[in-house]
Amino acid sequence: MSTPNPAVSEKDIFSLFSGDNPELVASPFALLAQMRSTSPVLPIPFPIPGMGSRAWLVTRMEEAAQVLRDHAHFTVDPSSIGIAGPFGRNSSENSDAPTFFTSKTMLTVDDPDHRRLRLLVSKAFTPRYIEGLRPRVQEIADELLDRVQAQGQMEIVKDYAFPLPINVIAEMLGIPQADWAQIRVWSEALAHGLGVGKRDPQAQAHMRAFGEYTARLVAEKRQHPGDDLISQMIAIEEEGDRLSEAELLSTITLLIFAGHETTSNLIATGTLMLLDRPDQLAKLKADPSLVPAAVEELLRFNGPATIAGPRYAREDIELAGQQIKRGDVVFPILLSANHDERQFPQPEELDITRTLERHLAFGYGIHTCLGAPLARLEGSIAFTTLLKRMPNLRLNIPRENITWHFSLNSRSLAALLVTF
Ligand code: HEM
Repeated sequence: MSTPNPAVSEKDIFSLFSGDNPELVASPFALLAQMRSTSPVLPIPFPIPGMGSRAWLVTRMEEAAQVLRDHAHFTVDPSSIGIAGPFGRNSSENSDAPTFFTSKTMLTVDDPDHRRLRLLVSKAFTPRYIEGLRPRVQEIADELLDRVQAQGQMEIVKDYAFPLPINVIAEMLGIPQADWAQIRVWSEALAHGLGVGKRDPQAQAHMRAFGEYTARLVAEKRQHPGDDLISQMIAIEEEGDRLSEAELLSTITLLIFAGHETTSNLIATGTLMLLDRPDQLAKLKADPSLVPAAVEELLRFNGPATIAGPRYAREDIELAGQQIKRGDVVFPILLSANHDERQFPQPEELDITRTLERHLAFGYGIHTCLGAPLARLEGSIAFTTLLKRMPNLRLNIPRENITWHFSLNSRSLAALLVTF
């Protein structure tokens, strides 16, 4: 006889958005399973400021994919249906130092604007173009490990997982190395201080500083263009009506933020997931050709993006038996969809040899992650190089002392001390 499913507590659902329960931040999987078994579409039993009339969580794969691909019924741009939205984004009042939080980017508009903005940079992110970066990414990974190899220990987040992707995206964009540390401060402040219904005033100050920095960088590159993506985007903006100044600035901040925050989480948490499972780690060390499949499984199992950006119903629609009203906000929980027992046998097991047909770690539909080929390349090189050069990798901190950070839409490790 099966035991009845205990009701999902309102407090726990709240914690998914506030990060106020460290145990749930470290491991939300039991809660997500409970939510999936309760319903594919759950109402959020508390108001979220600025987020439409009612809010829903989508917990299972089929329904999450449906919301993400059904652009006729769901929009990422609340202003298109007359709603202010969470950050007052896409509004002209935020025009002095636009960032992706306050102004339009491909992530927050629908087609045709979405297609226009994405096409302007998509050439730099095709799998073929990204494959051309392989030697340079390898070189960066090796340089980072050269710095710590002799010490026999390192802090993976600071020494490897953070600097690797920011090096790559900063070189692509042409951002001076002297500014990387400051960018990290801003990115962390934004990730931790802003979120659904959350506007930490200090994070807003960081956001303004990040926007002003980007504006100065663009002004500098207008004077002295280089062979980088920002200079190419400036040329497009100066050509005519394809890209406005505000879109240029907010797109650059989006690429900087999205280009390193998530991938560094993949590398750090992925390493911990492997250290937690010596059998999987041993398999990977024995056969490095498994690394690309392991990266996909790590993305499925504990991918950096817990939740996709909010979608707003354009009209009344029924979703898995729930009556969603025009203007309601719907959150696809990617991490939950990726553990859906209807899609994956034994979803709570990490199995790097699993054959994966699809996962939602990079989202789905027209907003599917632009940087996915880059993230995959960086992830593959990061794990291959780490395991080859440091085959005796071990935790250098008691497992229970590892702390997680909760942020905007993801969970990350505060630090990961290892010996090798
Ligand atoms: C493991 C690493 C990464 C993960 C898990 C990830 C995840 C995601 C997800 C889930 C979305 C869709 C959000 C939504 O639909 O609301 C997205 C969009 C996006 N990502 Fe990533 N991302 C990663 C790395 C990157 C990198 C390296 C870049 C490079 C610049 C990047 C740039 C973008 C951009 C520009 C979008 C918006 C695409 C659009 O709206 O058309 N991401 N990402």
